[in-house]
Amino acid sequence: MSSTTSQNDSRAHVDHYSKDVPWYDKEPENFSPACRELLQNYSHIPPGEVTSHVLEMVPSPEFTVNFAKLTCAQRERAWAISPYPCIGRFRFLDLSISLQPSYHRILSFLKEPQSHHTLLDLGCCFAQDVRKLVHDGVPSENLYACDLEQSFLDLSYDLFKDENTMKAHLFTTNVFAEDGPLDKLQGKMDVVYTASFLHLFGWDDQLKICKRIIKTLKPRKGSTVFGRQMGNLKGQEVPNKSVVGQDSSFIWLHDVESFTRLWDTAGRETGTKWKTWGALNDAEGMGTNHWGEKGVQGLRFEAVRVE
Ligand SMILES: C[S@@+](CC[C@H](N)C(=O)[O-])C[C@H]1O[C@@H](n2cnc3c(N)ncnc32)[C@H](O)[C@@H]1O
Repeated sequence: MSSTTSQNDSRAHVDHYSKDVPWYDKEPENFSPACRELLQNYSHIPPGEVTSHVLEMVPSPEFTVNFAKLTCAQRERAWAISPYPCIGRFRFLDLSISLQPSYHRILSFLKEPQSHHTLLDLGCCFAQDVRKLVHDGVPSENLYACDLEQSFLDLSYDLFKDENTMKAHLFTTNVFAEDGPLDKLQGKMDVVYTASFLHLFGWDDQLKICKRIIKTLKPRKGSTVFGRQMGNLKGQEVPNKSVVGQDSSFIWLHDVESFTRLWDTAGRETGTKWKTWGALNDAEGMGTNHWGEKGVQGLRFEAVRVE
């Protein structure tokens, strides 16, 4: 099961920045009430300006410098950095962490007084899920979030207007980097959240990432990773149709069985054991119209260390 880079790369014909793709919406279809609430009451954006803030926010002076040639529209700036479907389809407005069945349990755990329980959002983009946790009462200094693109992290402070208040540790790294910032967190996280991330890669790279997650989590029972991503009714390798910046021509979309197999393998290779849970669903804008791929579903998942 390899994540091959083939000569016949199925993405070769795609203009990465084209907006003439099924995963680019002009405006958000469903602005989740939770996100509207966050932007109004955490970022203090007046109710009538929430949508225009997301679409057309005036950039900070830094961004005027960095993105002088780009339009001022917030989402347009993100699209120009890296045109992921989660940006084209405004999936970052879902605050997907709060849609997880275990959200309230994990929230209570992170809020236990004096506990200093920690969470890392891996592949965070705007770190919107970290903002949701902070708004729901988690001390921001116990939260970590990382992404390959520093520009997404910079943009996130503009989106949420919290540069002077938020103490979460946002940092840039490549998840595959050896001796990078993730190594400094080795064995320090109680929880890892990772959304729309593993599905960017083929099986072998996903396995590497799972092992990296295991290293980052505290080496004890109960350490937890959870998230959501694209899945498929039948776990399989499919051509990587759009996503930018990745080497894989093929990505692996899981069903619950193959997701469990992935974690069983990661456990075996690290001397650990994981109890996994997963559920496919055709909601959350991840259905067939997203990729035109047969059988595509959303997958929510959780893996808890049991040994
Ligand atoms: C599809 S977006 C999902 C973002 C966010 N978690 C969400 O649910 O909206 C994937 C993110 O992973 C980041 N990414 C891609 N490859 C990466 C890598 N090798 N290491 C770290 N982050 C990476 C991208 O920059 C992007 O922000």
